[in-house]
Amino acid sequence: MLTSGKEILTKANRQNYAVGAFNVNNMEQIQAVISAAEQKMAPVILQVTESTIKYAGLFCLSDFITNLAEKSFVPIALHFDHGTTYDLIIQCIRSGFTSVMIDASMFSLDENIKKTKEIVKVAHACGVSVEAELGRVSEAEGPYFNENESEDDAMFTDPTEAETFVNEAGIDSLGVSIGNAHGKYRKVPCLNFERLREIKALVKIPLVLHGASGIAPDDLRLAIRNGINKVNTDTDLKQAFSDGLREIFLANSEECDVRKLGGRAREKMTEVVKEKINICGSTKMAL
Ligand code: 13P
Ligand code: ZN
Repeated sequence: MLTSGKEILTKANRQNYAVGAFNVNNMEQIQAVISAAEQKMAPVILQVTESTIKYAGLFCLSDFITNLAEKSFVPIALHFDHGTTYDLIIQCIRSGFTSVMIDASMFSLDENIKKTKEIVKVAHACGVSVEAELGRVSEAEGPYFNENESEDDAMFTDPTEAETFVNEAGIDSLGVSIGNAHGKYRKVPCLNFERLREIKALVKIPLVLHGASGIAPDDLRLAIRNGINKVNTDTDLKQAFSDGLREIFLANSEECDVRKLGGRAREKMTEVVKEKINICGSTKMAL
């Protein structure tokens, strides 16, 4: 059933597990996530970014996902990931998203609060949940997460600022920066669990871990035990999907049946989503 992000995450927060939030770009990826969630009887969040909307078209994504979600027996939220513009966030709300992220983490605390509050006002009036981010989650291949650890530290979420941010902005979930980064890590990611515990002690709403691809399962489990309730995965899914395509092409470089190609890619991705759901501890939580 199509469900608000808040409803799904509040239950996870109360019962100390996390919900997998999976980035999708096309029909096969959407089906992979929903099929894995149903096999595991787990609540799930499907999320799309601005570049995905540019690629696939807003209504193609929202109509397809909300339709499948309404027919499914597991709770499913449709989330706009890393929204940066007011206009596109409003368009997502109007086209049926049940959750949106306003990512104004590149601005000062005051500016972040101001931009986030604008979205919260409209979204909450429509029954749509809001995620925001404080601290910077960088690109694993970008200029950060490198030699100088104090540089990384400066981007981490400050617990006291997080408390102020959540109280003033009125958001439903908060993305944190604790050593996580988007994309393929260049060095083994080292999460700052102490920082996470400090944030969770002051901030009672569900916390979100971006950049979960490439983080060791035990570290993910520990992060969840210490207050993470939404685990965002994209790169590992793209990898599984493209591995499936490669496998078919390697067997027959002339293969042109898109159902064979897409079908194998979908199977590969479904398996990875199921593994992530196991790690999140959300198996059977749809019941
Ligand atoms: P990864 O691509 O590193 O898994 O990050 C996903 C993410 O944070 C989506 O918002
Ligand atoms: Zn992210």
